[in-house]
Amino acid sequence: MEQKDPKILIIGLGQIGYHNAEYMTRLGLNVEGFDLERSAIQRALNAEVIRREAKAFTGYDYYLICVSTHDPMNMAQPSFNSLLEIAERLEQEGEEGGLVSIESTVAKGISNQVHSILGHRLHVAHVPHRFYSEDKKEHGVRQLRVLGGCKYCCTLEALNFYAAILNIPVHTVKSVELAELSKIIENSHRFLEIAFAEELKMFCDNEGLDFEELQGAINSKWNIKILEARNGIGGHCLPKDTQMFFSLAKNILPFSTVAAAIQSDKLYQTFVSKREDFQVIFPNNYISQKKLATN
Ligand SMILES: NC(=O)c1ccc[n+]([C@@H]2O[C@H](COP(=O)([O-])OP(=O)(O)OC[C@H]3O[C@@H](n4cnc5c(N)ncnc54)[C@H](O)[C@@H]3O)[C@@H](O)[C@H]2O)c1
Repeated sequence: MEQKDPKILIIGLGQIGYHNAEYMTRLGLNVEGFDLERSAIQRALNAEVIRREAKAFTGYDYYLICVSTHDPMNMAQPSFNSLLEIAERLEQEGEEGGLVSIESTVAKGISNQVHSILGHRLHVAHVPHRFYSEDKKEHGVRQLRVLGGCKYCCTLEALNFYAAILNIPVHTVKSVELAELSKIIENSHRFLEIAFAEELKMFCDNEGLDFEELQGAINSKWNIKILEARNGIGGHCLPKDTQMFFSLAKNILPFSTVAAAIQSDKLYQTFVSKREDFQVIFPNNYISQKKLATN
C-alpha cells in the first residue's frame, strides 16, 4: 500500500506505544492514539506525540497494537483478552487492506488468531518490541527488529512500513510464530541468566562466601558474564514471557531448565524477603553450622 500521508493508529499508549508515537510523530507522520486509560491519552496529547485521540478504528492505514499482555491480577501470568478484544473491534472497524502490527509480546499462535478474527481483511504481522529507556537512541524504537507476517503479503506490507516508512532496520523471519518465539525465548534466556545469579548468591551466602568477589573472578574471563542478584525477577515482562515459553516447553520436553529457574527465583524471592528466616529456609547453611560449632 503506497499512501502520501499514511494514517497511523497506536493502540495502547504505555511505555511502548508512547515511544512509538513519539518516534513516528518526529518523522512527521500522522499519528493518532487510543488507550483505555485517560491518563495515558492525556500524557501523549500533552507531549504532542499524537495529533488526537481516536474515537473509532476506522480510516487508518496502519494499526500498531501495543497493549499490555499480562493478567491485570497477576503480572507474572500472560493474558491476551485485551488484545483479542481489539482484534474483534478491528474486524468491525478496521480499514480493509490496512496493516495490523502486533508489537505487544504474545505467545506462539496469537498473531494467527488475530489474523483469523480479521479474516485477512487486514494484514497482520508481529514485530516484537525491545526497549531500553536509559538509551532510547541505540535501544529505543529504531533498533534492529524481528519481523514476521501471517502471510507473505502481510510480511511485505510490514516490511514497507518499518523499513521504508519508519526507517527501522528489520530482521525478517519465515513465519509469524518464529517472530513470536524469538521474543519470549529472548526473555526466557534473560530469566535463566538472572536465576542462575540468584542461585549462586544463595549458594555463596550458605557457604559463607562473598558472591560479588566470586562473580568478579568468574567475569574476569572474556566469554562469561554472571549477572547481579538483586531482589528477584519482577516487572511485567520477564516473568510472563518466560511463562509463555514454559507453557509450550512443558508439553514437549520431560525436563525444563526454565521450570527450574522459575522455582529458583521463587526460592530467592523468599530468601531476600525473609532474611530473618534464613535458617528455616536453609537449615544446613553456613551460619547455623557456625553457630552449632561455637555452642
Ligand atoms: N516496556 C518494555 O520495555 C517492553 C519491552 C518489550 C515488549 N513489551 C511488551 O509490550 C506490551 C506493552 O508493554 P508496555 O510496557 O508498554 O505496557 P504499559 O503497561 O506501559 O502500557 C500498556 C498500555 O496499554 C493500555 N491498554 C491495555 N488494554 C487496552 C485496551 N484493550 N485498549 C487500549 N489500551 C489498552 C494500558 O492502559 C496501558 O496504557 C506488553 O506486551 C509488553 O510485554 C514491553
